[in-house]
Amino acid sequence: MSLNPNATAAADLLAYAPNVTHGLGRITEGIMARGSGSYVTYADGRKMLDFTCGIGVTSLGHCHPKVSAAAAEQCMQLVHGQCSIAFHAPYLGLVQRLLPMMPHPSLDSFFFWNSGSEAVEAALKLARIATGRQNIICMQGAYHGRTFGAMAVTRSKTIYSAGVAPLMPGVFTTPFPFWHQLGLEPSASTPALVEQCLYQLDLLLAQQTAPADTAAIIVEPVLGEGGYVPAPPAFLAGLRAVCDKHGMLLIADEVQSGFARTGRFFAIEESGVRPDVMVIAKGLANGFPLSGVVSRKELTDKLPPGSMGGTYAGNAVSCAAACAVADAMHEENILANAVKAAHPSHVIDVRGRGLMVAVEFTGAGLAARVAKKCVERGMLILTTSVYEVVRFIPPLNIAAADLAKGAEVFKEAVEEVVREG
Ligand SMILES: Cc1ncc(COP(=O)(O)O)c(C=O)c1O
Repeated sequence: MSLNPNATAAADLLAYAPNVTHGLGRITEGIMARGSGSYVTYADGRKMLDFTCGIGVTSLGHCHPKVSAAAAEQCMQLVHGQCSIAFHAPYLGLVQRLLPMMPHPSLDSFFFWNSGSEAVEAALKLARIATGRQNIICMQGAYHGRTFGAMAVTRSKTIYSAGVAPLMPGVFTTPFPFWHQLGLEPSASTPALVEQCLYQLDLLLAQQTAPADTAAIIVEPVLGEGGYVPAPPAFLAGLRAVCDKHGMLLIADEVQSGFARTGRFFAIEESGVRPDVMVIAKGLANGFPLSGVVSRKELTDKLPPGSMGGTYAGNAVSCAAACAVADAMHEENILANAVKAAHPSHVIDVRGRGLMVAVEFTGAGLAARVAKKCVERGMLILTTSVYEVVRFIPPLNIAAADLAKGAEVFKEAVEEVVREG
């Protein structure tokens, strides 16, 4: 069987599609056969401009030559150097590269895993062990993954955990300064939103979860699946102050917002706030499965050896790819390329940071209709949140012409949807 099928072979393979779980959603039909830079090609010949980056992963474009070459070379050296058996060079080489990229020099202790969800689990476990406390505070609208601990701190849509309770206990939810969630207009003043949310957090600690029982606050510096809402720097500074006051840890989930997506290596840098724990994944290895938990050695020294691990954790090929990503990010001056996409009309809010941008519409169902029209016009794009939001996650090195093309496709799609009423 060819793993690079022509149209006929692809049609034969698609006969097996009904044997794939119904629990998996998909925005397009067919088989994606090849990817190069900002484009993917389907086996039936369709070529699509990719403004999803596989949900914020292939930030350097599909099959970046240096990343693919590094992975291919590692494949011929050592594929599986299991992390509890021995170190391998790409693992330590990755630590070497990531150390100077951290938003704060105190973040000096690394553990690599496979997916973002797993890394969130590890971060929660670290927080409980390091503080000796049990409860976790998460944000309204947050998304942290689909495993049980990660699901428990996910508050963006009920679909992720509906019907599977009980989840991990000891989770409390606090409001995030997003006008929508507080029932306000987009013009709501940011200082007022921040003040209201920090006040509610204080109440939560007074009424529901005592600080002495609370291990950590977990926050996405840019709310991802909750609608692409950047956390105001004053809010993050407020969370830091609350954590310092009560001896709790601040966990920054940079799975979607990290690795230059917002125009900085990590979105939290904008606030100058130091997280105690940072969760990374997605853009880290440009498509190879790799995630990580970064913290302070002083905290991770409290972990008994064996409490962290995993058969595939920190896979050598993924780490080699991630080393090449870090090198390419510097060599190709990727941070400078992450400029904001064009603002279309017919929307109630345009927001985001760098190339993590969202457009929110007014009418029910509009976002899904616009996204569908974009796909029909040859551009992959995703919606997000329970609101009418379309998100742009193009490659960070996208050519200006392709960015303009994507903006044009989006504009035409919006105009057509608006015309149709
Ligand atoms: C902020 C954030 N955290 C965690 C995750 C979970 O990562 P994964 O899908 O790799 O398990 C995601 C995935 O979208 C995410 O956006």
